[in-house]
Amino acid sequence: MAGVSGEPGGSPGVSERREYLFKVLVIGELGVGKTSIIKRYVHQLFSQHYRATIGVDFALKVINWDNKTLVRLQLWDIAGQERFGNMTRVYYKEAVAAFVVFDVTRGSTFEAIAKWKTDLDSKVFLPNGGPIPAVLLANKCDQKKENNIQSPSHMDHFCKENGFAGWFETSAKDNVNIDEAARFLVENILTNSKNFPAEENNDGTIEINSEAMPAESKSQCC
Ligand code: GTP
Ligand code: MG
Repeated sequence: MAGVSGEPGGSPGVSERREYLFKVLVIGELGVGKTSIIKRYVHQLFSQHYRATIGVDFALKVINWDNKTLVRLQLWDIAGQERFGNMTRVYYKEAVAAFVVFDVTRGSTFEAIAKWKTDLDSKVFLPNGGPIPAVLLANKCDQKKENNIQSPSHMDHFCKENGFAGWFETSAKDNVNIDEAARFLVENILTNSKNFPAEENNDGTIEINSEAMPAESKSQCC
């Protein structure tokens, strides 16, 4: 089975150790901080300079989850300007989870969240046909919130209504809650992968499906 949907692998003979590769999407409006969150999480870097992502970009985060489990997160950083375009269907393929990001300083980016979530849920599914786990990130919490940004209790309600597993206030700039949000997402993915165990590869390796890697991808950083 090709793909990045989280099949357990690992070297033959090291049966105790489990390795997973999970494809995780990072989506949301233009300029909300998707690339910055990934850069902070993977490289511990932040830049004030805004360079819009074109198409999709990739990063790989390796997590020693516990002494028996290694998790590789392949983060798909999808340009905000892709807004529900036809390419998102290709990008979403075989994803097992998503971060949906908005910018607390721009209420319009929160208003677009429901549309991003609907787009996601219409294009990618778990093996049982259910939606993939999605975590909502209220980014730029180091800045003053715009007035129409909701209180924590409203956010809890919004998550329930729109099928988000949870939400976190984050700051890529000040490194707030990004590791915590990622840990929460991985817990959700691992729970799903226990419920729907995938086939183990015959040769014990995990392949990345080249079909699902769009030609216009610019870089793969790790
Ligand atoms: P697209 O690629 O166009 O979809 O945008 P993006 O969502 O990847 O946004 P990006 O990470 O490029 O960030 C946009 C701008 O917001 C940049 O100038 C960042 O420096 C800034 N930014 C991102 N995260 C934060 C944050 O947590 N706090 C503050 N103050 N600024 C941030
Ligand atoms: Mg970007």
